[in-house]
Amino acid sequence: MSMAISIAVLASGRGSNFQSIIDGVNEGDIKGEIRVLITDNPEAQAISRAEKNKIPVEIIRRKQFKSRENMDLKIKEILDVHGIDLVVLAGYMKIINSKELLDSYRYKIINIHPSLLPAFKGSTHAQTDAFEYGCKVSGLTIHFVTDDIDGGPIIYQKAADISECSSADEVAGKILSYENEAYRRVVGNFSKGKYVVNGRKVRYTD
Ligand code: GRF
Repeated sequence: MSMAISIAVLASGRGSNFQSIIDGVNEGDIKGEIRVLITDNPEAQAISRAEKNKIPVEIIRRKQFKSRENMDLKIKEILDVHGIDLVVLAGYMKIINSKELLDSYRYKIINIHPSLLPAFKGSTHAQTDAFEYGCKVSGLTIHFVTDDIDGGPIIYQKAADISECSSADEVAGKILSYENEAYRRVVGNFSKGKYVVNGRKVRYTD
């Protein structure tokens, strides 16, 4: 039997992706335990999702720290204390750019972005961008986090046909349903050691 991995989730808001990972753990698709939810927003709906599942919550606010670098060092401290193997960014709205955090957790921090990267890289409203641009296809990308924002090696992508969508909200809703399903599956695959990283190429091994 393989060992369960220790997971930390960082989220700033609604937490639907966080919920899909909770469900994946509870239903046995993810061989892991969510050790902590870290959030920068005391109002985040993600907090009540954590509480319902007895997941410890750490609230860290930007104003508590002199710099974003210091905030990231606090995150690193929390991750270290919990012995975290995988850090899942699920709608975490701050940029992680501390070298110390990134170096210590290289290839252990993943993010989900609601576009087919590199389209709408760095955007916080990529679904609206895709709609307004008139894209017929958009989607989601799950990638490793590096100091290049939304530019780390790609782990998984899924395209969404948005040609029939009549609003940006409809695009966002369609992509979100794909996101929830994909993130859960990718984290599950991680927990089973199914990804091999070789530079920018991430290979899936079954
Ligand atoms: C998702 O669209 C994700 O791609 C983006 O932020 C949103 C978070 O949604 N990074 P939720 O909080 O997981 O519901």
